Amino acid sequence: MTYDFRIAAADTGTMYRDLASALEGLVAGEPDPIANMANAAALIWETLPDLNWAGFYRNVGGELVLGPFQGRPACIRIAFGSGVCGTAAETRQVQRVADVNAFPGHIACDSASASELVVPIVGADGELIAVLDLDSPRTGRFSEEDEAGCVALAAVLANALND
Ligand code: SME
Repeated sequence: MTYDFRIAAADTGTMYRDLASALEGLVAGEPDPIANMANAAALIWETLPDLNWAGFYRNVGGELVLGPFQGRPACIRIAFGSGVCGTAAETRQVQRVADVNAFPGHIACDSASASELVVPIVGADGELIAVLDLDSPRTGRFSEEDEAGCVALAAVLANALND
């Protein structure tokens, strides 16, 4: 198997489709959740432009705990309901925040972060497994297309992490 997953697609929709199939290939047959989250974070980081952080917080006993990521060291534990990630975890709703400074309770791990997209990863049993967190130094970085694309990536991971 080759691990050369450089994706250069003409448009965002195609890029996310390529990203989802690359991710499916990477996680296929691998049951270890940390390995799969690590490769997913690296793939997203390598592919999406204008990110300063890409990674996961895992649901460990009802608290978010830092998982595999790319970018600067980050806050380790986040309570459900706290900040953008904690809100996504508690509500199971995608949080697409154009300006993090306008989000009540935003946790500034890196002052360079200006916008953020957090997608809950929910298993077949309805349990929250983790959240996928993307941060950008650019205000309004994440479009509806990014949201749809990342929801599709989260679905690939929900299957893989639930096995
Ligand atoms: N800003 C996030 C915290 C996680 S870091 O950005 C990696 C939040 O408010 O949940």
